[in-house]
Amino acid sequence: MSRALARDGIAQERLQLRAFVADAETRAVIAQVAGDLMITGASIHNGTVRDAITVLGRERSPRILIVDISTSELPLSDIDELAEVCEPGVSVIAIGERNDVGLFRELIHHGITDYLVKPVTATLLQRALVQAVEGQAPHQRQTGRLGRIVAVMGARGGVGATMVATSLAWSIATSRHRRVVLFDLDLQFGSVALALDLDPANGLRDAVENPSRIDGLYLDRTLVRHSDTLYVLGAEEPLDDVVRADRDAVGLLLQELQAKFHFVIVDLPRQISVATQQVLQSATNLVLVSDLSLAGMRDTLRIVQLMHALNVGCTVNVVINKGGEYRAGEIPKSEFERGIGRSVDLVLPFDARRVCAAINSGRPVASTSGPVAEQLRELAERICGNKAAGRTGLFKRLLAMVR
Ligand SMILES: Nc1ncnc2c1ncn2[C@@H]1O[C@H](COP(=O)(O)OP(=O)(O)O)[C@@H](O)[C@H]1O
Ligand SMILES: [Mg+2]
Repeated sequence: MSRALARDGIAQERLQLRAFVADAETRAVIAQVAGDLMITGASIHNGTVRDAITVLGRERSPRILIVDISTSELPLSDIDELAEVCEPGVSVIAIGERNDVGLFRELIHHGITDYLVKPVTATLLQRALVQAVEGQAPHQRQTGRLGRIVAVMGARGGVGATMVATSLAWSIATSRHRRVVLFDLDLQFGSVALALDLDPANGLRDAVENPSRIDGLYLDRTLVRHSDTLYVLGAEEPLDDVVRADRDAVGLLLQELQAKFHFVIVDLPRQISVATQQVLQSATNLVLVSDLSLAGMRDTLRIVQLMHALNVGCTVNVVINKGGEYRAGEIPKSEFERGIGRSVDLVLPFDARRVCAAINSGRPVASTSGPVAEQLRELAERICGNKAAGRTGLFKRLLAMVR
């Protein structure tokens, strides 16, 4: 198996400023101000917020985005749709023709940094841009927009948690085209990088042990690229050593990842440590994987109960994997559900041929064919939420994200 090392500085490919504006006059003002402020990576298009949605659905978001909403029939729903495709941490300045305080307030509620009314003057635009860069815009949320943390944990060892985590990350990154980092919190035995045919980079250990190490550039060097939208954070630390993860360092690391990625998928080791607790406390979703064994049932229940105490707002999905492996020896699903006091969301069948073939060749199971792959892709869709529901309220989702 060739384990290709593919790494790049993900900060470098990002434009500083991108604008989609329909009239030449405003575009000229933006070009002038970008020049005055010496913003080198600026790209100014003839277009509207609709074009921004299309382009940013497939390309990286700039740090500051200017969109024209003057021809928008439903500006708020366009802004929500834009928020769906934009990366976390982007400042969006809207430009329109309506001088309407009500609209302004609504736009701010929907996550916009500032709203400027045409004709836009260089002075006004310059002030808005400077405030956006410095994070001092009057309505900038303190936390900014953050990506979601999806923790994946096995109730027992070997039940397929890594397989599920890898497939979820790949599916969200590929079919939803969201920026995803797959973070392997087992720094010694973790197998996420191996499952994707990659070599982990050095540096994760330092980042989880020392809160002072964490900054954007350091992280960029530690991330390994699988595709334009999927990155891996893992390690293969020697076994004759002890990794001492620090709670604050893991918290800071998660925050830094959330500012860079739409989804942070964490493959958790089963031992409860300060690091796993930190992830479980910050998670928006937990995917709990078990087999249909008695021990699996007991520990699924215990982890579900732990989540009630640690993070009651976290959405927990229970996934049974390798269903049918032990046939008559398994606990029936209905009994398992009674035992854990809730329903099971998904049963993935045991399929040694397809699953092992995918894993042994370094491919995510979800990228192959068969019922396991299909159901994993469905689970990824469910975790992302369907689009129609997602459009209803960015503000609500922002609250959920920063919780
Ligand atoms: N649905 C399945 N059918 C057959 N084998 C599976 C299935 N899911 C996982 N496996 C196998 O089980 C083993 C353990 O999976 P892994 O994802 O490493 O588990 P965990 O992370 O929970 O320890 C792997 O060798 C994998 O190939
Ligand atoms: Mg594992």
